[in-house]
Amino acid sequence: MSDTSRVDRLLTQLTRSEKIRLTHGAVDPEGRATGYIQGVDRLDIPSLSLVDGPLGVRIPAETSTAFLAPIALAATFDADLARRHGQALGAATRSAGQDALLAPGTNLIRVPQNGRNFEYFSEDPVLSAAMSAAVVSGIEAEDVIATPKHYVANNQETYRASISASIDDRTLRELYLPSFRAAVNAGAGSVMTAYNSVNGTRMSDHHELVSEVLKDEWGFDGYVVSDWYGTEMAVAAARGGLDVEMPAIPMGETAGIEDETADQGNSAPEEFEIPETVARGMPDPATCEGFNAALPAAIEAGELSTDRLDDMVRRVLGAMDSIGLLSGDRTTASVESDFEDLAFEVATRGTVLLKNDNTLPLADEADIAVIGPNIDTALLGGGGSSETTPEMESAPIDGIRARAIGTVTETYGLPRIADLSMFELLAGESADETDSGREPDIDGAVAAAADADVAVVFVRDRATEAIDKDDLRLPGRQDELVERVAAANDRTVVVCNTGGPIELPWRESVAAIVQNWYPGQVHGEAIAAVLYGDVDPGGRLPVTFAPEETYPIASDERRYPGVDRTVNYDEGVFVGYRWFDREEIEPTYAFGHGKSYANFTHSSATVVDESVRVAVQNTSDRTGREVIEAFIRPPETSTIERPVREFAGATSVSIAPGEERAVTIDLDELAFSRYDLEQSWTVDPGEYVVEVGRSSRDIRATAAIER
Ligand code: GLC
Repeated sequence: MSDTSRVDRLLTQLTRSEKIRLTHGAVDPEGRATGYIQGVDRLDIPSLSLVDGPLGVRIPAETSTAFLAPIALAATFDADLARRHGQALGAATRSAGQDALLAPGTNLIRVPQNGRNFEYFSEDPVLSAAMSAAVVSGIEAEDVIATPKHYVANNQETYRASISASIDDRTLRELYLPSFRAAVNAGAGSVMTAYNSVNGTRMSDHHELVSEVLKDEWGFDGYVVSDWYGTEMAVAAARGGLDVEMPAIPMGETAGIEDETADQGNSAPEEFEIPETVARGMPDPATCEGFNAALPAAIEAGELSTDRLDDMVRRVLGAMDSIGLLSGDRTTASVESDFEDLAFEVATRGTVLLKNDNTLPLADEADIAVIGPNIDTALLGGGGSSETTPEMESAPIDGIRARAIGTVTETYGLPRIADLSMFELLAGESADETDSGREPDIDGAVAAAADADVAVVFVRDRATEAIDKDDLRLPGRQDELVERVAAANDRTVVVCNTGGPIELPWRESVAAIVQNWYPGQVHGEAIAAVLYGDVDPGGRLPVTFAPEETYPIASDERRYPGVDRTVNYDEGVFVGYRWFDREEIEPTYAFGHGKSYANFTHSSATVVDESVRVAVQNTSDRTGREVIEAFIRPPETSTIERPVREFAGATSVSIAPGEERAVTIDLDELAFSRYDLEQSWTVDPGEYVVEVGRSSRDIRATAAIER
């Protein structure tokens, strides 16, 4: 907690120019921070270093732990694990000598091809909120300022800095705001505003959502920081509620997002023209008037009050004080290496077994053909500000070779699928789908598959900040590779390393499918442990997998990517499984879907206070992990159209063979509530049905509850 008297005393001692200096970025003399606020030496106010990102610390030319993508963390459906993961991120931030982590990304997954879905959690607000709060709590526990982002409705990359999201209040409240509210309630010391506008007002200037909702209604007392070059007129932003402008440095002078290219020594050639595909996803620094340039005169002229300036500074100093930066009693940082094993645990727990005809787990002595264009490379994450550079990394072939007893053959089958990186595209690098001189050799892959007991094919997608994917298909000829291998071996397993939903046209032809997301540096060892059954795949889908044309945004360009820079969220609250339920569309794999190597039975459900209880028995001969999910069906008497069901919570448990476990799921009030424009939050009277099951489409027990 911050000591307000210490902060108030400093406020009386600071000069006006010192106060303004605390409200905007400056050049980091060490050139390491993504954003940097200069301190005030004469008053012993230290500088404040902000660093990316949600998958680990990003400092050019330095290494740090490459954690898994947040969507994979959400797939664990385990908030306790997510909190420990947040602590690991905080410890890594402290190890790097930084003070604020620009994470977690907490935007809802509305657009299945959004280039940054890997940085976010879910299509569901309750799961997104639970994960957001848990990660924030973990980061702050390490005396690091957490920065949930991007407030709010940054749900696509296409034209992200120039679109306005047109969203009704109910949809905003029920879907897009909850994860930020949960982050604030969990103690986030800052919140980052989005590039986009909402209902015609830039988020950096949005007085209603930033000052009235975030600060006044929710009681947020930290600082609101802009996204990089995400402001226009300084006074409008400061009056709207923005407290800190970043990076407030001309292009090319910081170690942040725009300087990455220089640091990598690959600054763009003179005549280079940034491709439209990435240019339309980038902010324009020229639009930023700048706090440092505009606020002195604005205050002098009375356009911005000194009270507002003091409030801005109080919020920055308060956040610094809350992590011990002003008192000097910052906690001793955990050692980052204490969390190395955690990266492995989370990566295995977030892995989702979509299909298995009992080809998995692999027998130790089985002869395995490992196939795929990137089997020699760990998939660390997507491109952009969340990029990390690990000390070590374990590729799929490494992990399987280390684990296998039988023979292992390896065949690429195709040229390497190239990573997609916003920084590289800005520096003039190629956007080609493949980046190796390797010739396709699908015949070789087919021959290897035919000779093996089991063929394991690794496929991947390409995603980066600033660009949305063109579609949900796998890039290159990967689908063809899978189909031809599956025709040669009916025990073909496909491992998908993607940052969100993809289409799986060959799913009926293969024996097993494992959704392994972006596992980070532990990729190979984690996936090998799951494939060989050393750990039970504990993941469940935090997003619906379905054919691209069936998603709500696919039907109308007004919904995505928008028309005349306006994106109409007129699907309302019917995003993800809520849409597929209402439209009665059978998804490929439902929200919450995921299999275990074990089998379970489930008893009837009993509602006790604000939770539901069910007994789960492991009827197999091996330990298994079960994720029991609860959904709420609203009263049939509801006068407002409501989703068929809303996710209310889940509990993940490991159960020994034959054991029966009583499982309790706390029911999130949000799943009972609806936002009414007149009454605000309301719970309609009537009978609610609590559904308990293994996915939104696999309900095993129900219980009624009167509200
Ligand atoms: C980027 C991203 C944001 C990141 C910031 C600093 O544009 O939108 O997530 O933290 O700039 O790199």
